[in-house]
Amino acid sequence: MSDLYCVMGNPVEHSRSPWIHARFAELTGQTLDYGRRLVPLGGFAEAVAAFRADPAGTARGCNVTVPFKFDAAALAQHLSPRAALARAVNTLRFDEDGIHGDNSDGAGLVADITVHAGVALAGCELLLLGAGGAAAGVLGPLLEAGPRRVVVANRTLAKAIALVQRHAALALAHHVTLEAQELHAVPGRFDVVVNATASSLAGGEVPVAASVLKPGALVIDMMYGPAAAGFMDWARAHGAVARDGLGMLVEQAAEAFAIWRGVRPPAAQVLAELRAIVDRP
Ligand code: ATR
Repeated sequence: MSDLYCVMGNPVEHSRSPWIHARFAELTGQTLDYGRRLVPLGGFAEAVAAFRADPAGTARGCNVTVPFKFDAAALAQHLSPRAALARAVNTLRFDEDGIHGDNSDGAGLVADITVHAGVALAGCELLLLGAGGAAAGVLGPLLEAGPRRVVVANRTLAKAIALVQRHAALALAHHVTLEAQELHAVPGRFDVVVNATASSLAGGEVPVAASVLKPGALVIDMMYGPAAAGFMDWARAHGAVARDGLGMLVEQAAEAFAIWRGVRPPAAQVLAELRAIVDRP
């Protein structure tokens, strides 16, 4: 019986996760099957139950993507501290004592910024755009990386305030000044700007003024492909270094793989391979 994993989402057909995890398994000598499952809206718990009953093997865990990360947090019987703070889960592990929920998105983003982009987060000023599930998933690990100041800016200020309040103790513990701001009135300039809004997906305009960028700032969109293009073009046009979310995608997958298999795969190699595929004309 093989160990089964999958990514669950809606939509899910373009997910790169099956390719990434197949490569991780090859490179680490692990035997597993990783597929993708399109989950009907409102049907997350049923989809997990059906996956766990799959006679093709033994379901060991799954990744969870939009829009089910909150459902996954509700379904898990045990939550890691970072998933509890995020109230969102992207990695489920099925153990004998129940379903464990974790969130590897923030660790993935931090690894991408510090390792692949080569930018130190310690002591920097960071602007996080958005206060939905994507932003919630990364704020905790960003604070733990020790920036000097973090501003969460969102179209709906109340959501940014709520997210900031939930993370206040963690910010204090890591000596980070953490504040919430409205998107169109962000004071100051930043070394790192992370776009965790869905504005690019919605075809919207860049939701923040270029005055937030320090010269040579690192700007990351958590999307990749065409969905990230507008924000990255804007960043480059204003003298920033632009980065898409592909590195974060591979690094969050590496973290999930380690959670499941206890083995850390060679993320840098797989990112380089995936980059070549994605950027192929
Ligand atoms: P996700 O799980 O991808 O974060 P979400 O929880 O629906 O999805 O959150 C979407 C985020 O994108 C929110 O921060 C949202 O702002 P609001 O809280 O004000 O809704 C933001 N967003 C979506 N479209 C936007 C736009 N056109 N301009 C600015 N922000 C936008």
